[in-house]
Amino acid sequence: MKIAVAGAGYVGLVTAVVFADLGNEVICVDVDPAKVDAINKGKSPIYEPGVDELLQRNLEEGRLCATTDLVYATRESEVIFICVGTPPTETGEPDLRHVDEVAATIGRALNGYKIIVNKSTVPVGTGDRVRRIIEQHRVEPHEFDVVSNPEFLREGSAVHDTLNPDRIVIGADNPRAAMKIVELYAPLERPMLITNLATAEIIKYASNTFLALKISFINAIADLCERVGADVVQVAKAMGYDQRIGHAFLQAGLGFGGSCFPKDVQAFAHTMQRYGLDPSLFQQILAINEARPAQFVARIRERLGDLQGKVVGILGLSFKPNTDDIREARSLEVIRLLLQAGATVKAYDPVAMPRVRAIYPEVIYCRNAYEVAEGADALALVTEWNEFRQLNFERIRDLMRQPNLFDGRNLYDPQRMRKLGFYYYGVGRSADSNEFRGVL
Ligand code: UDX
Repeated sequence: MKIAVAGAGYVGLVTAVVFADLGNEVICVDVDPAKVDAINKGKSPIYEPGVDELLQRNLEEGRLCATTDLVYATRESEVIFICVGTPPTETGEPDLRHVDEVAATIGRALNGYKIIVNKSTVPVGTGDRVRRIIEQHRVEPHEFDVVSNPEFLREGSAVHDTLNPDRIVIGADNPRAAMKIVELYAPLERPMLITNLATAEIIKYASNTFLALKISFINAIADLCERVGADVVQVAKAMGYDQRIGHAFLQAGLGFGGSCFPKDVQAFAHTMQRYGLDPSLFQQILAINEARPAQFVARIRERLGDLQGKVVGILGLSFKPNTDDIREARSLEVIRLLLQAGATVKAYDPVAMPRVRAIYPEVIYCRNAYEVAEGADALALVTEWNEFRQLNFERIRDLMRQPNLFDGRNLYDPQRMRKLGFYYYGVGRSADSNEFRGVL
């Protein structure tokens, strides 16, 4: 099938390389000539495991190319995916400007029947809006259909998630268009649901909001655990064994960041309001999340006292492991609060340091975790990269001025750390020394 993908961000680029790899002819479109250039040279403009290999292979085999020319790409294709960004406006509602621009250009370029598939995360009703814009800009009277096909990929495992989705949602008001998209996804052999446009648009927000709800829920429980001497890790584990609940997204800690959850929950709250419904459940998910970094830094201050002249080391800066994305990363707020309190901040992240350096040049960026620990009064784990799991903690302890460990992701075993001589704080984990715990 001939496909165009408008927008070469995380979603667009991954969609493009995966569809090319499945044997389709794909034209990747982006307004940024530097991105287009990089893609045509086989260099992924995003850090995402597996993308470079797929990009190079499909460029070499002539199934993929990139351009800034959306008119050309539209004319050459049967299916056009809209994967442009929908950043939040000041009110928290998604800015649909780029979606509108792409729709207008597609309208002007129509030279035959096309299916326009929206993958950008957009509020319910946007499919109809795209349809209206294309109609308004259509020069020749060609038919077209609009489909909503929400994307559930996670950064860091985007290629894997795109190839192995739990489900594929295809929202279309015309069965002809739906069947074409079913055909496109058939090689993946995954469950597909065909719905109307509005249903598909809601599925995306409802899913992301529910996952964010799980995280804020367990974080609220973590706060209670701290007050009463309980351990939230065990609470979550026991809850997760109930198959109706499941273990996923019940890790307490610094909360969620990234380009999706914070903005999607906020947008969904707005949608509720727009339709006269109570948004407070959704607002509360955000409120709990926003309080996490300040609470974490408060624990550091309780331990160290005045932070003037104190050195705090940060392990991990990206919003989660395996990505260089720092959008809404918890590290940014933790660093801001530490600097504001007068601390000297050292940090290390395997890939995200250049991005954070642009925001906080005053932070001391290090080559590894040990360099961060050197002379530090506290070490704070913010992002649980794999390489932080098996550090040599005897060495870390000896390098630190004071062995204080603040585990923002509950990555480490509290008993082990305390035995090694650390003061250990884990989010929602009490300081009791019960040796007989765990799952038998
Ligand atoms: C998310 C959705 O998972 C994905 O389906 C959607 O398409 C885009 O948004 P992503 O933002 O890439 O994906 O990251 P995800 O792995 O879901 O993590 C989001 C945030 O939640 C991270 O900051 C992570 O650290 C945090 N998190 C996740 C927790 O704090 N606890 C958990 O138990 C799980």
